[in-house]
Amino acid sequence: MTEQSPVTQAAQPVNATPNPVLPDAQTVTQVTHWTDWLFSFRTTRPASLRFRSGEFVMIGLMGDPDPKTGKQKPLLRAYSIASPSWDEELEFYSIKVQDGPLTSKLQHIQPGDQIILRPKPVGTLVHDALLPGKRLWFFATGTGFAPFASLLRDPQTYEDYDQVIVTHTCRDVAELEYGRQLIENLRADEMMQELLGEDTLAKLVYYPTTTREESPKMGRITTLLKDGTVFRDLGIEGISPETDRAMVCGSMGLNLDLKEILEGFGLEEGANSDPKHYVVEKAFVG
Ligand code: A2P
Repeated sequence: MTEQSPVTQAAQPVNATPNPVLPDAQTVTQVTHWTDWLFSFRTTRPASLRFRSGEFVMIGLMGDPDPKTGKQKPLLRAYSIASPSWDEELEFYSIKVQDGPLTSKLQHIQPGDQIILRPKPVGTLVHDALLPGKRLWFFATGTGFAPFASLLRDPQTYEDYDQVIVTHTCRDVAELEYGRQLIENLRADEMMQELLGEDTLAKLVYYPTTTREESPKMGRITTLLKDGTVFRDLGIEGISPETDRAMVCGSMGLNLDLKEILEGFGLEEGANSDPKHYVVEKAFVG
């Protein structure tokens, strides 16, 4: 792949009162293209929208007009909110699929454009679905990093745990950049330091790996867990239901493989109504 620097379209002064031409319209405030197939964007937030960090909402655009009736229907997909619940805007992190019904269009949005956002947040990657523990693991591949981008900026994550380990596996180094920058900015964020206390962010451990392009740590996270590399690298004895909690977000294959690994360590899957040791959600793929 060709490595490229992220290109950010800075927020343009948007009309103070844009005319909502779409149902549940929100206005795009910023778009950043990270690679040829990854981008993130920020939008205005509906005043009524309350959500828990880690949840997702349905977002999208109007579909093409029906050739017979000329009518247009909204084309919506589930997207994890990547911004924390205290942020006055919303952020999303997306793949670009050239023939994907939604992302082939969504990738062209610009500041000032409108998207549809149904303000009904749901999801299992929330603190409420886990029992109290000492160490929290976030396991992500690709755009599965999005819900953790929200949770990593939520003070509760650091208040509830002694250590927070985020692993992110991508094919290439450039695909790690959104997460890498987010963590770098978080560590340098004076407001977070003030909010949490200066030492709190020392709880955060970032463990990025690549599978196809050379990088300091190579391999699928599943392999690195099974052969003990992760534990050796981090000076941790292992994962146990007494101390460890986990959230998993990636492809179907990753989710299934990690479920098996975590259950092998004795962890049980939780839900909003039945909090346990780990939770899983599929990352948006198309
Ligand atoms: P790999 O390159 O070995 O397939 P994708 O771009 O296909 O969504 O994959 C994102 C990252 O997730 C890649 O690094 C990929 O590794 C990895 N991955 C895909 N499937 C699994 C799985 N079942 N277990 C662990 N990692 C996986």
